[in-house]
Parts: sequence; C-alpha cells; structure tokens
Amino acid sequence: MATRQNIESVLIEKRVFSPPPTFAARARLKQSEREALQQRAASDYEGFWADLARQHLAWLKPFTQTLDQANAPNYRWFADGELNVSANCLDRHLAERADKPAIVFEGEPGDTRSLSYRELLAEVSRLANALRSLGLQAGDRVVIYMPLVPEAIVAMHACARIGAVHSVVFGGFSAISLKDRIEDAGARLLITADGGWRGGQIVELKSAADKALSLGCPTIEHSVVLRRTGQEIPMQPGRDLWWHELVPSQSPVCKPTPVGAEHPLFLLYTSGSTGSPKGIQHASAGYLLGAKLTSEWVFDLRDDDVFWCTADVGWVTGHSYVAYGPLAAGATLVMYEGAPMFPDGGRFWQTCQAHGVTIFYTAPTAIRALMKLGDAIPQAYDLSKIRLLGTVGEPINPEAWVWYHRVIGREQCPIVDTWWQTETGAIMISPLPGITATKPGSCTQPLPGINVDIVDDNGVAVTAPDAGGYLVIKKPWPSMLRTIWGDNDRYLSTYWEKFQGRYYVAGDSAHRDADGYYWIMGRIDDVLNVAGHRLGTMEIESALVAHPKVAEAAVVGQQHEIKGESVFAYVVLNGARPAGADATALSDELRRWVAEQLGAIAKPDTIRFADNLPKTRSGKIMRRLLRSIARNEPITQDLSTLENPAIIEQLRGEAAIESNPRRSR
Ligand code: WTA
Repeated sequence: MATRQNIESVLIEKRVFSPPPTFAARARLKQSEREALQQRAASDYEGFWADLARQHLAWLKPFTQTLDQANAPNYRWFADGELNVSANCLDRHLAERADKPAIVFEGEPGDTRSLSYRELLAEVSRLANALRSLGLQAGDRVVIYMPLVPEAIVAMHACARIGAVHSVVFGGFSAISLKDRIEDAGARLLITADGGWRGGQIVELKSAADKALSLGCPTIEHSVVLRRTGQEIPMQPGRDLWWHELVPSQSPVCKPTPVGAEHPLFLLYTSGSTGSPKGIQHASAGYLLGAKLTSEWVFDLRDDDVFWCTADVGWVTGHSYVAYGPLAAGATLVMYEGAPMFPDGGRFWQTCQAHGVTIFYTAPTAIRALMKLGDAIPQAYDLSKIRLLGTVGEPINPEAWVWYHRVIGREQCPIVDTWWQTETGAIMISPLPGITATKPGSCTQPLPGINVDIVDDNGVAVTAPDAGGYLVIKKPWPSMLRTIWGDNDRYLSTYWEKFQGRYYVAGDSAHRDADGYYWIMGRIDDVLNVAGHRLGTMEIESALVAHPKVAEAAVVGQQHEIKGESVFAYVVLNGARPAGADATALSDELRRWVAEQLGAIAKPDTIRFADNLPKTRSGKIMRRLLRSIARNEPITQDLSTLENPAIIEQLRGEAAIESNPRRSR
C-alpha cells in the first residue's frame, strides 16, 4: 500500500523546490564542499572519516586505526582512541559559550527554565558524582524512565560522563515493558520521576516503576526519583532516593572518565519483526561523530540558532537530535514536556514564537494532525524566525509536506525529510538544505560518505528508475549500531544474513527515481510504523495471547489518516466468538490489556473476532490476506489452500452485518 501511495504521490506532486537563494548563500555546506566531501569519501573512505573524527571530536587519546574489519560485520571505528562524550558536548563549549543557553525548557503547565552550558555541565557533574557515590562504574547499565524535562538529558550525560551505559525507556511504555528492558540490560540503577505532565494529566512514572521493580528486576540496587509533579508517591527506604536530596549537595566538578571509542554509550530498545524488543547498542565516538556532523550538515546549525526537535528522549531521534548532536554542535535547544495539542492546537506554534525557534524538526504524524486543524491556528502566531523545517519517522505524504512548506515555512524554508533508524544512529539520507532541490515525499539523496543502494532479492542492484527493492547500506559507517545487547547472533541474522554480510539490510523498501532521488516505501518486515513509532506485530500478538480468553491473534497495520498506520488485530478466543455488546466490551478489555502489557501506543484501534485465522498449509498465518482485508483492498492472494473460505466473510466483519435484521434476506 505504501508503495502505491508513494508512486501516486509522485504523480500528484511533481514540483521541485530549490533552496531559497538567501538560505543557500549562508548555508554551512555549499555545493563545492559537498562535492569535495563526496570525492574524498569515494577515493579514500577511511581517510574521509578519520579526518572528520579528528576535526569534530575532542580526543583524550588520539586514535591511530580508523576502521577495524577483523570481525566484520561487527565493525569497530577509531578503536584505539579515547574520549568522553559528555565532555565533547559540554566542557568543550566552556571557552566560547559558557553562558549561552544550552536548553530552553517549557513544561506542559507553562513553567519555563533555561540552562546555560555552564549550568548544564554543573548539573551533569553533580549527578555524575552522585552516581559514583552509589558505586556506579564504567560499563554499568542505568535505565532512565523520565518525562521530557532537562533532567532526562542531565541523566544521560551523567552516565556518559562516568562511562555508564544508559538505556532510556520511553515514559509511555508500561511497567511490564520497563521491567523487560531493565532485566535484559541488567541495570543496576533506575532514574525516574514522580510523574510527568501530558495532556493535562499526570503520567504516573513512579508507580509504573514500582510495579516494574515488584515484578522482578533483581539487578536494580537503587532508584533515583526526580520530583516533577509533586504528587504524593511512596518511597521505599534504602532503595529509593530523591534526586533533590542526593544531587544538590554534590560537587559541581566531575572529571570525565576517558572511555575507548568503542565503549557502549547507550542501549535503546526497538521492535523487530520477531521476538522481544532488541537492545540496539551504540558505541561512543562513532555515534557522536554521526550525531554532530548531521546536526551541522542537515540542520545547518549556527551559533544564533534555536533548534527544536520535538522528539522524546525515549526514541532515537531524541538521543541524536536532542541529547547529543545539537549539544556537541554548541546549539541552543528547545525542549517541551507535554502533548502537542495541550491546551489547544496552537501549543507548538506558540512555543516556536515564545522561544524564537529557528529550526523545527518533527514527525509527519504531528504535521498531519496539526494540518487538520486548519491554517488559522498557526497563522495566529509569529513563525517568522523559522528558517528550516525537518521531518522524520515515516514517509511524509506530499499533501502534508506542501502544507508544512506553505503554512509553517511561509514558502521560504527548505524542508529536510530525513531517513534514518535507531540502528543507523544518525541521519543517512536527507536533503542538504542549502544545496538539494527537494521533492515532496522524497528523502532525496544519501549524505556524503553514506553508501546506500537498492537491491533485489539476490542482492543485485536495481538500476531501472522507480523499480522497488531492498534499501541497503553498502559500507560500514561510524554511527552504526555495534550489536544487539546480549544477542550478537540476532544482530547478524537481522541485519546481515540476507546478503551474506555484504550489505546492511535496513528493513525498508525503496525506489529511486530518474534523478537518483530515494523514495522510502515502508517496512518490508512485520514491523508497523504507528505515529512514527516502530511496533513489532509479534509483540502485540504475544501481549494479546497472554490474555486468558485469547487463543490466537494476528496483528497487521491499517492505513490511518493521522498516525500513518494503526494497529488492527484479529483475535480468536478460547470460547465462542462474541457478538454485539459482548464483542464491544471484550474489545475494550483487550485494548486496555495491551496498553497495560506494552504501553498505550501499542493499543489496537480495531479488534475483529473470528472463529479461526486463515493459514497456509504449513500453518503460517496468511498475513498479506489479513492486511488486504484490514485495508479494504481487493484480495489477490490464492485462497485455494484456505480450509474454511467462509472465514473471509467473518474476517471482513461481514458476518456481523449479515446478522443485522434490516439487511438480512
Ligand atoms: C521509518 C526513527 C520514510 C523507516 C529515526 C525506518 C522513515 C524506521 C523516515 C526507523 C523518512 C524513518 N521517510 N520512512 N524520513 N524516517 N522512517 O528506528 O521505516 O524509530 O526504517 O528511527 O522509520 O524507525 P526508528
């Protein structure tokens, strides 16, 4: 479906948007520089990356080896060098911009706070000292489960400062998801908060954390709890420590621990097509290099910019373009805690106006939701300072692109549609805003040094324009994932097996037009992209079958006007198939159940009960068929192997309609 949508899009929206001349004239990266970079990467790939790593990162011990391929595809970059990521983002700015705001924060209730680079460094150092006082050492894992407040960034950097490995768990995930991630990581410490604000409500983080710890998590020794909402919460003596009792008394000076370039900086769990979420493991130097370079190249960051990436730090976008890249680049970033529509649809634009945002980066799902509210809302705010717009997370439909360009960008701002993944660490395919002419719906071309291609099932490059295939990356790059935490075999099989280790397989399909522009068509595996967030169908199915009444479940994606995709679940019960009010009640119960198991984002929008699921002779669920039914598409699959063809009616939901007396024959 995504394929057809995109191809149709090309037909609908053929306009090409050149960078505005005034933007191009001032851009950090000009065409001649891009060409020089591309030539250097083509003629001396390792030299290209080594130069950039020396120019952009502050090393405590210089590296002598650039790329180590001895254990490919477990690549290592700059491996004999040492550095500290937090020092690269904070200490190194003290000479030039100590008093420049690093973070301008706005809470959902309207409270605001600004932290200069000097203040942020002091806060990070205090927490780092506190972590050391709790006995944490380099390599220990710390899980961070927090609202989107400056302390979340402080926590990430405090870990980096002492070489501890953080794993941020999005605050919207349930207690059970939190527990699974804590246990997989073997974390010693949990950093959380009493709660956070979202949509005028309190997100009960501490109670979810308590539940997670009560279910297991034997490796956790302490949890550090930030007071954010101020509501009463129970504290377990000995285990739970208030941030405000532990941190302020610490010294604001903390010597950063030098770590090897390959030392893991963080784990971030993300959904795959099978099994439980995988802990994507990133290294220190290569990751930071990717985040910093792309912040400068793609977002054209300069000292007077105010950069707002709306992502939560629970996702990779919030790692690379909130917590690390912009700070490494010395930028001022805006951070907003709450829901985009609270108290009304003007919140984003009001925030842009209030803080003088110059660069705004968000997801297509948010753009579509805001577009639906009409032009008058954004037009009521002064958005004239915005000079660059970006999108990430899923393909953007041309209608939303054009609206974003016209209404938010006043037809004066380039739009960078950035393709990348948790695994790639940094943006891989994107326009360069002062150089690339953009086409609505295309992420355009790979960045210098990134070798992307489209191949067929046999790994042969697809060269015909507009022919689809697997999106692959042909050479290792510094910010790539290093492995899956605790499961290197899964790393090898998920990303490298398909083409015998020659190419990294992104899991997306794509096509390239006659101008060499890339168009992402969507996931090829059983991963859904709901509101820009990855969800594995398997995870949701496992959650459903964990319910005592459920015998079997199959989950597919259905198109959704705002979220891009929504979760559609077919469910077979242990007992009889419910109808009418019983079906509605059970449907609600199962939706709540999934939210409790995984988090509200995984809640199915639709649940359809059936007597059984369509299967192939080998017993595999016919997912393509289920997808066609969910999407009301014509069924093109061969149904001859189906045991009970009447099931199709049920799956379509027609049985219910037939039982409606007014329609019965
Ligand atoms: C999708 C988010 C089209 C894609 C940074 C990818 C996109 C998955 C784009 C990664 C884009 C991300 N155009 N599709 N600009 N950006 N995607 O790991 O399917 O949460 O594989 O990383 O999102 O999602 P993840």
